[in-house]
Amino acid sequence: MKIFAYGIREDEQNALNEWMTNHPEVEVDYTDKLLDPQTAQLAAGADAVDVYQQLAYTPETLTALHELGINKMSLRNVGTDNIDFETARRYDFSISNVAVYSPNAIAEHAAIQGARVLRQTKPLDRKIENHDLRWAPTIGREVRMQTFGIIGTGHIGHVLIDILQGFGAKVIGYDVYRNPELEAEGIYVDTLDELYAQSDVISLHVPSLPENYHMINKETIAKMKDDVVLINVSRGDLMDIDAVIDGLDSGKIFGLAMDVYEKEVGLFNKDWSHETFPDEKIADLIARENVLVTPHTAFYTTKAVYEMVTQSMDASLAFIKGDETANEVKY
Ligand SMILES: NC(=O)c1ccc[n+]([C@@H]2O[C@H](COP(=O)([O-])OP(=O)(O)OC[C@H]3O[C@@H](n4cnc5c(N)ncnc54)[C@H](O)[C@@H]3O)[C@@H](O)[C@H]2O)c1
Repeated sequence: MKIFAYGIREDEQNALNEWMTNHPEVEVDYTDKLLDPQTAQLAAGADAVDVYQQLAYTPETLTALHELGINKMSLRNVGTDNIDFETARRYDFSISNVAVYSPNAIAEHAAIQGARVLRQTKPLDRKIENHDLRWAPTIGREVRMQTFGIIGTGHIGHVLIDILQGFGAKVIGYDVYRNPELEAEGIYVDTLDELYAQSDVISLHVPSLPENYHMINKETIAKMKDDVVLINVSRGDLMDIDAVIDGLDSGKIFGLAMDVYEKEVGLFNKDWSHETFPDEKIADLIARENVLVTPHTAFYTTKAVYEMVTQSMDASLAFIKGDETANEVKY
């Protein structure tokens, strides 16, 4: 049994080595290169490939694997929108992803960044770096004194609710499908409008779906409390960023923590320190004292990376053995 892994980063090596030690019966080879029609040749002789990339899995790439007799592919990430499923279907590909690797990684990031905005840590840190050690006017708002509105109470939203309740905050939630446990706690409001009207801090934990496109916009911001804090660690297109910038400019929005951006592909996860920064909007947001921008790093923890490597390799092995895997993508 042989698995070939693509795009292996340094921070994934430990998890991969551990998996290899635990599975001496499986031959594993890997590269830091991404999978494309040319690099597909590196997998010759393998039974399955393990991958993680934003680069598209094109008809040419999948055909190259098919010609090597490979039709098993395990993704170390969630998103499958870059796969050409028509070609995958033609060649009867078995595909898996890692849908749940560590909701805590993302929920903790949301909680930490939200708390940082409330406590004004960015301007405070800047003052301290300049040896200005005065308190005022950088006064904080206590987490426990806020009402948090959580939109989407799935894996990540639920963990965030637990974290915030640990701080003693009041939490209300909205979801199109209610979680019975949270329902019993009485956290749900019936409409998004109620959530907008009651929340001091609003955190988004819904997927990118057509019906959720720009759910935070001029009209919905107008329904929110003054001095609202917004947190988006989910998907960039949930927010009309221009409307949010208007809200920051007018003072309606107290602060923003964002880990995702509608136009993040090609921008995030790249070192721009020696190049002309290509996005003025993000440059402006990064410069603001009440805005925290992180480049889609909420997921990026040692635990999450471990799960992504381990679960994807387990899925590849299951495919090779003809076993079932809960991570199989039905398409
Ligand atoms: N920043 C990161 O690094 C990172 C990492 C992983 C996931 N995410 C994002 O986090 C988001 C949530 O992930 P999850 O694992 O908790 O998903 P999930 O599927 O477990 O939960 C999503 C919830 O949203 C609900 N929902 C969908 N549309 C809704 C709407 N219009 N109003 C109210 N509720 C709605 C669903 O019923 C579901 O309960 C996703 O957008 C995902 O892409 C971000």
